[in-house]
This record gives sequence, structure tokens and C-alpha cells, in this order.
Amino acid sequence: MKKILITIDGPAGAGKTTVSRGLADRLGYKYIDTGALYRGVALEAIARGVNYEDDEGLGKMCSALNIRLILNAKGLRLLSGENDITEHIRTPEISMMASAVSARPVVRQYLLGLQQELGRDKEAVFEGRDMGTVVFPKADAKFFLNALLEKRALRRYKEMSFKPSQSLDKVEQDLKKRDENDISRDIAPLKPAEDAVIIDSTECTVDEVIDQMLLHIKRVS
Ligand code: DC
Repeated sequence: MKKILITIDGPAGAGKTTVSRGLADRLGYKYIDTGALYRGVALEAIARGVNYEDDEGLGKMCSALNIRLILNAKGLRLLSGENDITEHIRTPEISMMASAVSARPVVRQYLLGLQQELGRDKEAVFEGRDMGTVVFPKADAKFFLNALLEKRALRRYKEMSFKPSQSLDKVEQDLKKRDENDISRDIAPLKPAEDAVIIDSTECTVDEVIDQMLLHIKRVS
């Protein structure tokens, strides 16, 4: 099999992370969670009091940031400068702020080169919103993973069931709001690439989704 680059886009809660990780494991590829990079920018903006509409402030902040994803013994880690911020980016507040800052061109521009650099050697599965449309338009295999909103909300809610800081209703409202932000933004909106294989995971197990993907990957590699 030749070395390929695989992209998986889709809305929050569609199962992208679990599927991307599983697929990368099956292929012996690296897995890159690009949402984590947007979350890292959001965390820094909140910490520095930069408003998500303040493009000048965001621009200045980004030019001084050193956000990166590294693989170490603990797995994929998100670093900002010398700090490992992996454990601090999964709060509801950061999710909303990540969606808000991701609509700003200055932030997308900052992260574009960084993501493309990570994909230079292929043999990678990239998860995000615009992987197949903008960041890697020439990716070898592109997937768009979707599921009904209610199912996605339930999955997210179960993920946080040991620390239920939100009700199921609130989780669903937040996902809906984030979908709207991500779909309607002017720059790199969430949408399937024309050549993406669209998979609905509402009624599928993780393994069923990965098997469908592997079938397609066999055909293109
Ligand atoms: O995948 P996630 O939920 O961790 O992503 C957080 C936010 O980051 C999401 O609401 C939109 C944004 N994002 C993006 O705009 N482009 C990407 N490639 C990945 C994430």
C-alpha cells in the first residue's frame, strides 16, 4: 500500500476522534486532532483576555504563540510554549470559544501552515472541519462523518457522565450552536469536500465505520 494522507471532517460529536484514532491504529499511521489546535488558541485568548472579534489582538497573540502537537509516551499532546495544555482544553467554555475564534481569518491563517507541515510526510489521519476542503485539498482519501444531532448530543453527554457539568439539553443546544457557527462562517466552513465519501454514523458502531473507510482506502491506495 502506498503512503497516503486521510482526512475526516464532520460536525462535533459525530465520532471523528474515536474513528480517526482507530483508523490510524489499524494503518500504523499518526493521528492529528486539528480541533485541539483551535482549542489551544481559544485557551490562550481567554487567558489573555483577547476578545474573539478583536482581529488585531488575535493576530498579535498568534504571532507570539508557539502552539504545537507532539507525540510522547502519554500520546498526542498539545503544547503552548513550554506548557502542556492537553488537559485544559475540553471545557464547554473552550469549545464555544474555539468555534468563535475559528471563524477569524487571522487564526485560520496561523494554523494553516502548521497543519500542512504536520501532513508533509503523509501516513496520517487528520480530523477537523476543513481538512478535505482547504488544508489538504489533494488528500488521497477524504471522509465526511455525520450523525443525527440527538445522537451526537447523547454521545457527548455520555462521555462526560462522570462529571456531568451540563444537562443533556444543554449539551444538545451547545452542539447545535457550534454546528451553526461552523457551517455558516465565511472562511473554511464545515462542509463535505466534493470528493469526500459521506458516512452517517447514527446507527453504526465504530468498527463498522472504520471498515467502510478501509474498503474505500484499499480502492485508492
Ligand atoms: O473538533 P473540536 O470540537 O475539538 O473543534 C473545536 C472547534 O474548532 C470547532 O467548533 C470548530 C473549530 N475547528 C475548525 O474550525 N477547523 C478544524 N479543522 C478543526 C476545528
